[in-house]
Amino acid sequence: MELSRTMKRTGAAALLLGALLPAACAPPTGAARPGAAPGPAATREEQFVDSLLSQMTLEEKAGQLNMSPGRWSNTGPAAPVGGEDQIRRGEIGSFLGVWGAQVTHDLQRIAVEQSRLHIPLLFSFDVIHGYRTIFPVPLAEASSWDPELAGRAARVAAVEAAAGGVQWTFAPMVDIARDPRWGRIVEGSGEDPFLGSALAAARVRGFQGTDLADSLTVAATLKHFAAYGAVEAGRDYNTVDMSERRLRDVYLPPFHAGVCVGAESVMPSFNEISGVPSHANHHLITDILRNEWGFDGVVVSDYTGIMELLHHGIAADSAEAARLALHAGVDVDMVSRIYLDFLPELVRQGRVPQSELDDAVRRVLRMKYDLGLFQDPYRYSSVAREQALELTPEHRAVARRMADESMVLLRNQGATLPLDRGSVHTLAVIGPLADDQPSSLGSWAGAGRPEDAVTVLAGLRKAVAPGTTVLYEKGVPDVLSTDSSGFAAAVAAAQKADAVVLVVGETAAMTGEATSRATIDLPGVQLQLAKAVIATGKPVVTVLMNGRPLTVDWLAEHSPALLESWFLGVETGNAVADVLFGQVNPSGKLPVTFPRVTGQIPIYYAHKNTGRPPQADQHYTSKYLDVPWTPLYPFGYGLSYTTFSYGAPRLSSATIGPDDTLRVAVDVTNTGQRAGTEVVQLYLRDLVGSVTRPVEQLRGFQRVELQPGQTKTVTFSLDRNDLAFYGLDMKRVAEPGWFTVSTGGSSADVKSVNFQLTTPDGQAVAVPEGCEGRS
Ligand code: NOJ
Repeated sequence: MELSRTMKRTGAAALLLGALLPAACAPPTGAARPGAAPGPAATREEQFVDSLLSQMTLEEKAGQLNMSPGRWSNTGPAAPVGGEDQIRRGEIGSFLGVWGAQVTHDLQRIAVEQSRLHIPLLFSFDVIHGYRTIFPVPLAEASSWDPELAGRAARVAAVEAAAGGVQWTFAPMVDIARDPRWGRIVEGSGEDPFLGSALAAARVRGFQGTDLADSLTVAATLKHFAAYGAVEAGRDYNTVDMSERRLRDVYLPPFHAGVCVGAESVMPSFNEISGVPSHANHHLITDILRNEWGFDGVVVSDYTGIMELLHHGIAADSAEAARLALHAGVDVDMVSRIYLDFLPELVRQGRVPQSELDDAVRRVLRMKYDLGLFQDPYRYSSVAREQALELTPEHRAVARRMADESMVLLRNQGATLPLDRGSVHTLAVIGPLADDQPSSLGSWAGAGRPEDAVTVLAGLRKAVAPGTTVLYEKGVPDVLSTDSSGFAAAVAAAQKADAVVLVVGETAAMTGEATSRATIDLPGVQLQLAKAVIATGKPVVTVLMNGRPLTVDWLAEHSPALLESWFLGVETGNAVADVLFGQVNPSGKLPVTFPRVTGQIPIYYAHKNTGRPPQADQHYTSKYLDVPWTPLYPFGYGLSYTTFSYGAPRLSSATIGPDDTLRVAVDVTNTGQRAGTEVVQLYLRDLVGSVTRPVEQLRGFQRVELQPGQTKTVTFSLDRNDLAFYGLDMKRVAEPGWFTVSTGGSSADVKSVNFQLTTPDGQAVAVPEGCEGRS
């Protein structure tokens, strides 16, 4: 298993500041994490931090916990809002959204040279799907089911961000989301904790590398802790109320996976759970995160999250909000100023124990130490590196590969795709998103620039054969417009063409924070546009751009081909062209269920069976009068230009004991004419438990490349960790009895076999929350 962050802490050393700090504070070299075997390096780090702490006033301590806002900018380095004098007075420990090598360097100089204790600043930024080179949105990357590649994307983002002075990103967002009305579903990995955990771990590793003090890595933040994806009615910031069992079985595993691989920080969520807002949730932050999981990093509030305790109605005033948040375990106050303004006095009054303040400050100082900032506070702000990394071909190549893998082919009637480049003499490109650069970049584009994005139109223009005419019509002025006066021109273009690419969906601005939608249909009159264009009878390929599942049942039945492209980032058009012309055979699979209609939400594959599972001919069963109970597209679904067939899963044994590993083998054959990559999926069902269990749970997946006619045997291993859940008494256990193991190419297309878990005394075996088998 991975080393935890505790054990990973390596060589932060202080030299530069050693000259500035009193001798007793001279930061040492070669630290290791406290909490690991306390080696000399860990001790040196603790000594350094303690020594520094002992010199700090209460105001300086509160300053370390204060994160000041920057001015958001997508066009150049952002200037800080907070005054330089505040830095000199030691009132700012970190900045949010201040980036760019020069500006961070200049501010750092003020902190290091002009503040009393010379403590360096932290610069944080939301590097969500790329910094300068913008990658597909996280939900798209999740569609690749390729954590290794998603980790590389995070690595590229870290290298670029670090050169721009950023040392701390607020990613990965690891919220499980089963409600596509919630706009933030775009930021995560979809509905499943197993896939989500794999991606969480890979992204943390990608951002942080193996040495946080390396100037090419940044500290990662797992957010939003917790259950933010479960807001009622999909309305952002809304209430959450759920059982601790569901919380632990479904919503917490990706956080735990990220903690297990050493994530440096965690951000609480805006929502409450069962009456307790996360920013005041001692049980969540201190009992579970710190005490159960051993997390010893920084907990950073979300934007004004501490202040919002007043709106939640659990703090009567700001001082009480500060007290509650600090006590819960929130170390850093993002932009509320509440810690800065109230903590010193609260400590003087004895309302906040000095030890709580000191512990929080210690964690912030340790993070600065781990990042190597006491050794060289300017290591991240490199104008030369920043310039050298200005959209490099190497980074764009990673973005293109990621984009190639992120698309999901939903329908391909009569092999409409791939288009034959040689016989498409006229191509019509239609739709309000076909040439939309900001939307191509996606919902959270860091320091990316829209002008760098290759749109679908631009990509196709480059990719067509010489001499091919590309006609372009928007059809509607924008996605929300109800103006259909452009339909006629769009239809005329389609009629002239040998093939049509229709690009419809949402703009990037319609997804992300505060972008909940009550219906998730194609907005505006885009569906009517699609109907008019498809009525021409031409081979129409509908390319969806969107950050959430949409209800596209009509297109699913009538568009000859339907490709989910999400928002693919800077390489959008090149990647779409790769797939449309068959340079790349699509391999993505949905990380989230597509409902037929909004009223089916929440709909997800790992549901419970109920006492009355749906049966079409039985009235009193769990279903709807007006629509089928099944989804439009299930979790794990995605087509290829080739076809795959599966054998039945074979087991190494029909019975296993609690310490055994079960091996599952399945033969997968490419039965088509092209090479292709299949995401082979393994699901598990515990048939009888002390509490009800989902009908299926993902417990393994592998991307397998197969030549035409080739068969490969794919093997998976299952152990008691894979069988475990929170049982009747809320202990994590594996219970003896029968399980069904299923393998296939989607959650709704599997072959199954049963096996049995036996235990010596016939009782459940404890499977404590450890890092093993969690990611
Ligand atoms: C609010 C968002 O909820 C969070 O995800 C983000 O990191 C902060 N703003 C900072 O931008």
